Amino acid sequence: MSLRQGERAAARGYSDFILHAKAVPRGTDLWKSFVICAIDCRTMKILGIETSCDETAAAVVTGDARILSNIVRSQLEEHAPYGGIVPEIAARAHVSALDHIIADAMTKAGTDYADLNAVAVTGGPGLIGGVIVGVMTAKAIAAARNLPFLAVNHLEGHALTARLTDDIAFPYLLLLVSGGHTQLLAVEGVGQYRRLGTTIDDAIGEAFDKTAKMLGLSYPGGPAVEKAANNGKPGRFSLPRPLKGRKGCDFSFSGLKTAVRTSIEKLPAGTIKDADTADLCAEFQTAVAEVVGNRVSNAVTRFRALYPSGDTIVVSGGVAANTAIRNTLTEFADSENLRFIAPPHSLCTDNAAMIAWAGIERFKLGLIDQLDFAPRPRWPLDPDASTAPFAGVKA
Ligand code: KG4
Ligand code: ZN
Repeated sequence: MSLRQGERAAARGYSDFILHAKAVPRGTDLWKSFVICAIDCRTMKILGIETSCDETAAAVVTGDARILSNIVRSQLEEHAPYGGIVPEIAARAHVSALDHIIADAMTKAGTDYADLNAVAVTGGPGLIGGVIVGVMTAKAIAAARNLPFLAVNHLEGHALTARLTDDIAFPYLLLLVSGGHTQLLAVEGVGQYRRLGTTIDDAIGEAFDKTAKMLGLSYPGGPAVEKAANNGKPGRFSLPRPLKGRKGCDFSFSGLKTAVRTSIEKLPAGTIKDADTADLCAEFQTAVAEVVGNRVSNAVTRFRALYPSGDTIVVSGGVAANTAIRNTLTEFADSENLRFIAPPHSLCTDNAAMIAWAGIERFKLGLIDQLDFAPRPRWPLDPDASTAPFAGVKA
């Protein structure tokens, strides 16, 4: 069902469609056609829900990319004493917060359930307890309100954010950098991804988080390391640039993490001085940014060979908030005459607006899910590349 067909149907009025749709068995292809026909793709409103990691989030987004509400409740306080996410605590916190967050999102959007056209939820990958909480809640709303249910891949949420913010066309090159993922992907279309590179060990966000932990900085480590780095200078410590200058588009961060530990061990015994922390963070961040620049450069060469019309690089995921990495990518894109899109920080870290938007993109293509959808803790974007280490493991 194309957008234009949907719009024509909307122009004729919805009532007949809805009347007929009610008589059609839910979930069948005919039912999906009725549902999509009866909706004006531009004004449709979708509720998005995100619970795959340590943010409980809900948002209402329209088909023409207006974010009516975007509520995010971080579980930082619950996890901070442990220096990392505790899955069981995360799941419980989602249970107690989600209903309120959804109610807030609906109120802020000035929307009633009767105005919604569908419910989208992160169906994976992520921590299974949290994913189950979100999926069950979304299913309950869909069943109670007779709304279409959309199970969204969390990574697809990150991948399509640039189309929500900047309305860019396919194909584009995506650098997806989060707490659990470090991937370079060619985004060919909704549900169509070709992975060009991934990490062979730790994810980039994990490297930031572990570096912060070793230095006694707060959790999550990325913003803490960036803040400390702003007061320091690279070069006083000497850290490796893993895989820089090597062929391919893969990443490796475990050696860098070990080198940080070794540098800390060489410091005089006792409390680490602020100046040492700042210089070590500055060197670490510079090393990471240089590696990212080098790997993206290789990926652009491959991307251009595959898609000569492609002219855009997008960065997404929590680590995309890092200014040093953004600056490196901006300079590289300028030098290569490429467009560079970095969504605002609030849409780079985990949020539900990206899930609602990915739901909208899928809904416009008729990709509606059944209520028997089973949460997927592992869900790679490019199934052909799924055998590589760490593919689709975490959000
Ligand atoms: O995408 P995200 O919010 O959650 C996951 O799906 O993982 O990403 C969280 C990750 C954490 O590792 C956090 O330390 C990192 O993003 N992060 C940053 C910054 N802000 C968040 N890393 C580096 N610099 C930042 N400013
Ligand atoms: Zn994420």
